[in-house]
Formats: sequence, structure tokens, C-alpha cells
Amino acid sequence: MSEPQIKIRMRDVHKRFGAKVVLDGFDLDVRAGESLVVIGGSGVGKSVMLKCILGILSPDSGSITVDGIEVAGAGSTEHEAVNAKIGMLFQGAALFDSMTVVENVAFSVTARHNVGRRAAREIALQKLAMVGLKPDVAERYPSELSGGMKKRAGLARAIAADPEILFFDEPTTGLDPLMGDIINDLIVHCVEETGATALTITHDMHSARKIADRIAMIYNGKIIWIGNVDEIDRAADPYLDQFIHGRTEGPIKMAVRR
Ligand SMILES: Nc1ncnc2c1ncn2[C@@H]1O[C@H](COP(=O)(O)OP(=O)(O)O)[C@@H](O)[C@H]1O
Ligand SMILES: [Mg+2]
Repeated sequence: MSEPQIKIRMRDVHKRFGAKVVLDGFDLDVRAGESLVVIGGSGVGKSVMLKCILGILSPDSGSITVDGIEVAGAGSTEHEAVNAKIGMLFQGAALFDSMTVVENVAFSVTARHNVGRRAAREIALQKLAMVGLKPDVAERYPSELSGGMKKRAGLARAIAADPEILFFDEPTTGLDPLMGDIINDLIVHCVEETGATALTITHDMHSARKIADRIAMIYNGKIIWIGNVDEIDRAADPYLDQFIHGRTEGPIKMAVRR
């Protein structure tokens, strides 16, 4: 069997803030075309991991490559080239309040591709249709949308420029379970339609099971378990077992606020 092609490779990545060690020899491979979901409790470093790939944060040491290009410690030219391949759905959708929904999505198209305004608008309307938003919603401002609609618009913006890689940061957080599931289904649909490599971070196990081909669990600054989604219930790892069943008793020490 041939080795799967690796889209994102992280090796021995360290990141700390003062005395707080967040990533501590972190290794991860994201295979081309897969949907990988990184799970873990709040504050374990999921967002820090994504920010290190995007160059929003700079790791203290280690290697992060995207399509073989080193981004750890790279300059803005490398980051821009790599980030142009990545579409991202932010936790709060992060739409521009002063632009309508269709303008938000079209902005992403023109930022990446050399197309005129009219063509960008047409593409934006197609992407909005793909996530179930009709043209009348497209003319609204973000403040006029429900939480679920904002997520849909954020998703349309993430896929707007046909990125090779999609990042989803806590895609279901803040949504009711029904809307969360609609977003899960849309993510699966968009990943299938675009053929993109998807990296999601979440603490929502239901969402992880739905979106993932493979699941990886982060704890104490490292990936402690990784496997196919259908292996997760047979896995004997006590940390994973505690997390997926939401047990208070187990090896995971809950951070207690003082
Ligand atoms: N810019 C920062 N400065 C200082 N501490 C940070 C910064 N970003 C994240 N942290 C800390 O790093 C840890 C991991 O954060 P984060 O990756 O956001 O967690 P999560 O897994 O919930 O996404 C937390 O303890 C957080 O307080
Ligand atoms: Mg986070």
C-alpha cells in the first residue's frame, strides 16, 4: 500500500505562554483529502494549534509544513502563500458587519482570485445556495441573521475561493442541537463537494463523529490517540474513554479555578 500523501505535518511543536506549556512536542499528520477532527477539552490548545499553522502564533520550536512548505518561523510571504490555500470557518463566523452577506462572501473570492465584481458576486450567490441561503438573505447584514444563518454564511465564505484546505473552529458551539446538526451535515456536504482536506477542532463528540474520517485527541500538549472514527469506541485509551463519555472520574485532571 502506498503511503497517504500528507497535506499538513506538525513535528515536535512546542508553544508556551510564560510558564504555561500548551503544545509540548506536538506531532500530527493531516492526510490529503481526509476530514480530521481534533478533540479535547477547553483550554488544551486546539485553537493554538490552528493559529500556529496559520502563522497567527509562532511556535517556540518544531516544524509545521503545509504541502511541504515550512511555516514555523516563516515570513509573511510564506504565510500568505500557504494561507491562500486555506478557507476557515471561525467560531463566531467573523463576518464584516458593514458588508451584506453576499458582499462578505464575494470579498473572499476577489481576495484570492482575479475576477471582477460581477463574477465574484455570482460565485458568492452559488456558494450561499450551497449552504442553503437564498438570495434575499444574501442582501441582509450580519446583524440581521440568526446564529445558524451566520454560521452558514461563514461556511459559504470559507469555501468561497475553492480552498484546498478547510479549517473549522468549534463549528457547532453556540448553536442549539438541531442547528448544530444542520451545520454538521453542511460541513460534510461542502467537504465532499470541494474535495478539500478538512481540519476541525471541537469539544463536541457528536459533531466529531459526524464530520470525521479520523479523530485525534489532544491532551497535555500532545496527540494521545488518533484513529478512524469507527475505532473510537473500541479504543482502550483511558483518557479518550473518559472524554468521549464525559465522565468526571478518570485520568483527566480537570483544571479547577481558584
Ligand atoms: N495569546 C495567548 N496568550 C496567552 N495565553 C494564551 C494565548 N492563547 C491561548 N492561550 C492559552 O493557551 C491555552 C490553550 O488555549 P486554546 O488553544 O485557545 O484552547 P482550546 O483548546 O479551548 O482552543 C489556554 O490556557 C489559553 O489560556
Ligand atoms: Mg478554541
